[in-house]
Amino acid sequence: MQLTQGAHPVTRFRRLRRTAALRNLVQETTLTTGDLIWPVFLCDGVNQRQPVVSMPGVERRSLDLVVEAAAEAAALGIPAICLFPYTDPSLKTATCEEAWNPENLTNRAIRAIKAQVPDIAVMTDVALDPYNAHGHDGLVVDGIILNDETVVALVKMALAQADAGADILGPSDMMDGRIGAMRSALESAGHKDVAILSYAAKYASAFYGPFRDAVGASGALKGDKKTYQMNPANSDEAIRLVARDLAEGADMVMVKPGMPYLDICHRVKETFGAPTFAYQVSGEYAMIQAAAQNGWIDGEKAMVESLMAFKRAGCDGILTYYAPAVARLLRG
Ligand code: PBG
Repeated sequence: MQLTQGAHPVTRFRRLRRTAALRNLVQETTLTTGDLIWPVFLCDGVNQRQPVVSMPGVERRSLDLVVEAAAEAAALGIPAICLFPYTDPSLKTATCEEAWNPENLTNRAIRAIKAQVPDIAVMTDVALDPYNAHGHDGLVVDGIILNDETVVALVKMALAQADAGADILGPSDMMDGRIGAMRSALESAGHKDVAILSYAAKYASAFYGPFRDAVGASGALKGDKKTYQMNPANSDEAIRLVARDLAEGADMVMVKPGMPYLDICHRVKETFGAPTFAYQVSGEYAMIQAAAQNGWIDGEKAMVESLMAFKRAGCDGILTYYAPAVARLLRG
């Protein structure tokens, strides 16, 4: 990098900004459909679409429509889809056994997508919150979120998803030791090629609110997730978490939320050079959509700018609810 620059008028930065052709020629970062992972919400039934009110433009889909959505995503060149189930309150227990039921909504959806849209990669969420009467990502006893007991449950959940055909497991729970436990269980079970995208640096964030509505976890959750998700004030800790998860067998790592944590994305990529993803979470999406609906910002431009920023920060890809919309735009 040339760190000194000639003085004006030897340098005129505007020379290369004069026309679209010149601007394109020197553009440093690109956003492509290959950078996208599309998170989708599942619900029971047939031919069901339920709008998520706090995420304008996002809906829960029944299994048949999720298969259609996966086919549409594959046709748009989106490489991966990530499944999040809305779980009926009657299936939520304190012991969370629905999480590793081979016939739960997620596992049925994985099989259906792999059978009918074999080319798209299917990613899952590994965490107990959709199935937990307490709404937490881990097992709760006397108000304490248990770590090691939760890891045992998460391993069962991960194996059920791998058996169903998942390509990428996404542990979003932030328990300690879960990556190593999952990796060794996958090896023993013959699932040596199942990838893990660890939610390694996941912050205790206010930006998850709309998601908790979408999966029906808002009602169950009491309190916050600060004993397992990260303090938003911390940065070195994110580096230590990523180092730990890579050492335990994560193939890829994630920073979450995205836009308020671009400094973390940059540090993680610079430090490890590992495949690094950001999750543009529900609250980030909701803010852009709400402002756009009010005519306060240009929604399409804000979408592209927000996603490009992740690439510029060093991310290899982005989980975003905008995946189909931005893919359509990129394909003209
Ligand atoms: C929970 C989970 C959350 C998200 C993904 N998995 C919410 C939480 O931790 O409470 C958030 C995604 C989003 O806000 O878009 N395991």
